[in-house]
Amino acid sequence: MDQNDMKRAVARAAIDFVPQGIIGVGTGSTANFFIDELAGIKGRFDGAVASSEATAQRLRSHGIKVFELNEVGDLDVYVDGADEITRHMHMIKGGGGALTREKIVAACSRQFVCVADQTKLVDVLGQFPLPVEVIPMARSYVARQLVKMGGQPRLREGFVTDNGNVILDVVGLNILDPVRMESDINQIVGVVTNGLFARRGADILLMGTPSGVEMLRPA
Ligand code: A5P
Repeated sequence: MDQNDMKRAVARAAIDFVPQGIIGVGTGSTANFFIDELAGIKGRFDGAVASSEATAQRLRSHGIKVFELNEVGDLDVYVDGADEITRHMHMIKGGGGALTREKIVAACSRQFVCVADQTKLVDVLGQFPLPVEVIPMARSYVARQLVKMGGQPRLREGFVTDNGNVILDVVGLNILDPVRMESDINQIVGVVTNGLFARRGADILLMGTPSGVEMLRPA
């Protein structure tokens, strides 16, 4: 079973969590497998709120209705992938650059179901560079503050978020307290948000392994 097979398997398993109403849908390759699975059951739910333009486009291409978050209020379930996740269900997200909208949809959702293959499970977050979405004019200021925190920020070249901002990918951070670091980075003026999902982590991880899908809850 390769990594894509494991992603496909967790995407299929997440179908059991789809409510009758409107579901929140994340961004990335694993979320894309989930969207393709949703297409097969589209008569069973009303539609979706998308965490990115790319996800909205893929949902629509399958004939799934896409709602604006402001039209619908809270959601029962949000399904999305992660770049790294711990057994405490803290995550790094934003490898695809959609972190801000992902965090907004997650905040509005009663249950966050993370879908990921086993390569994403880590003991300590931070091997994956932490994405930070930044207002363009603050890029250099924010980078200097991140250096003071021990990180090495790199501008994601040629990339603009759906919100018109830039991403700094930060390596070298010692993320032993992800809840605190999430707040500390968000306090820097000019930061829109960062890719630590610790204050609102996942509620369930559907983890793809070579022997099948395991379901984990916060340790
Ligand atoms: C998108 O911005 C990210 O947060 C994704 O959820 C994350 O990068 C996981 O993507 P894959 O499923 O492609 O690994």
